[in-house]
Amino acid sequence: MFISHTVSFVKAVMGQVAGPGDIAVDATVGNGIDTLFLSQQVGPEGKVFGFDIQQNALDNARQRLASQGAPDNVTLHLAGHERMAEVLPDEVRCAVGAVMFNFGYLPGGDETVITRPETSCAAIDAALSVMRRGGVASMVLYTGHPGGAEEAEAIEAHCAAIPMDRARVMQCCMTNHPGAQTRVLLVEKR
Ligand SMILES: C[S@@+](CC[C@H](N)C(=O)[O-])C[C@H]1O[C@@H](n2cnc3c(N)ncnc32)[C@H](O)[C@@H]1O
Repeated sequence: MFISHTVSFVKAVMGQVAGPGDIAVDATVGNGIDTLFLSQQVGPEGKVFGFDIQQNALDNARQRLASQGAPDNVTLHLAGHERMAEVLPDEVRCAVGAVMFNFGYLPGGDETVITRPETSCAAIDAALSVMRRGGVASMVLYTGHPGGAEEAEAIEAHCAAIPMDRARVMQCCMTNHPGAQTRVLLVEKR
């Protein structure tokens, strides 16, 4: 089912956004599920740049990419996503077509290492600065862990304040499932 799961909904959207030859960013690499997805979407002619602050996340992601035979198009950075604009090579700045954020903690890892409101909001600004017109950033927000609800609120307020001539912002949530712990934001650069 198309909207049965937040992550599959986001993939369905981002699968329309990131195509062969595109430049994409996985802003929260974690175990590399989205990195693999983006790598396959953009193919051998495209490029994927990944960011995470935990070495074990990048190791897990590398293993996943290798075991799945992903195209050789991924560069992983042990760096905070808030540094995206300075870390990406000059030639891809302003050319990024898709950015995926999956906030929270590393599944199976240290649950105290979480994304934080200040760096997450700074990273959203950085993503907007490196995206091309028509590029889309997806954000999966989790509210179920300590700090998650506060982060989601901060990110939602931050995105709601983006001027309309800079980006379109859309929010999705399961309105008939009050206990749902995930929400989605989509930001399209204009
Ligand atoms: C929910 S997990 C991501 C899951 C991932 N998309 C996957 O497919 O497995 C969130 C990740 O964000 C990372 N993270 C936390 N702060 C970060 C930051 N400032 N910049 C980049 N990554 C960060 C964590 O280390 C964690 O691996």
